[in-house]
Amino acid sequence: MTTIAIVSQKGGSGKTTLALHIAASAVYAGNQVQVIDTDPQATAAAWGDWRGEFLPEVITCPPVRLFSTVERAKRAGSNVIVIDTPPHGDTASREAVRVADIVLVPTRARAFDLHALEATAGLMAYASKPAHVVFNAVPARATRMLEEAAEAARNLGLSVSPHHFGERAAFHRSAGSGEVAREIEPDGKAALEVDALWGWVCEQVGMPPGE
Ligand SMILES: Nc1ncnc2c1ncn2[C@@H]1O[C@H](COP(=O)(O)OP(=O)(O)OP(=O)(O)O)[C@@H](O)[C@H]1O
Ligand SMILES: [Mg+2]
Repeated sequence: MTTIAIVSQKGGSGKTTLALHIAASAVYAGNQVQVIDTDPQATAAAWGDWRGEFLPEVITCPPVRLFSTVERAKRAGSNVIVIDTPPHGDTASREAVRVADIVLVPTRARAFDLHALEATAGLMAYASKPAHVVFNAVPARATRMLEEAAEAARNLGLSVSPHHFGERAAFHRSAGSGEVAREIEPDGKAALEVDALWGWVCEQVGMPPGE
């Protein structure tokens, strides 16, 4: 059983994309998955509406109700809980980190995004929870950019996931139709990246990829 919080103070860094893709990978691996959307914009919840009856289910929840909502999801049989949070949402981010076993921090690898990472790193410093930066929307052939960004993240005291998501149309296109990348491009690079990250997250929390 694991609870994964997706947290980043920066708008548009890829929180919802990461939350929904990792949750869908967990579903495909055979887990009982609950996505909890704490963002008043309710983007993940809208994706859930477009998706209809296909799993994972997405529910909304105000930050103050997060602890009890997670507990209820566990009692109802969910073994993987993924929490999406708003940008600039101190309360939501703090509550999500509090209930999480592991925190993923999506960020783009550009200068302004790395600057914004400082605020998220500050939040993590008090949390004593394993937190890993996941670089998102990395342009093709940007090896140097990625290395420099990883160093900047480590200098802020954050760990960096060995897996990142490239800038890929499949992430963007799938979201608008309530799907995930693998459902529109089953053998595509985006699908491989998401599954690699899911496998790595499972290793970090000591659970098998599917139950
Ligand atoms: N790896 C990627 N490749 C291509 N497009 C991406 C990628 N990740 C995210 N996007 C696109 O970037 C936009 C922002 O992503 P997303 O909504 O996931 O960010 P967010 O952090 O949840 O934003 P907010 O802070 O507003 O909640 C979306 O249009 C999404 O489809
Ligand atoms: Mg979002």
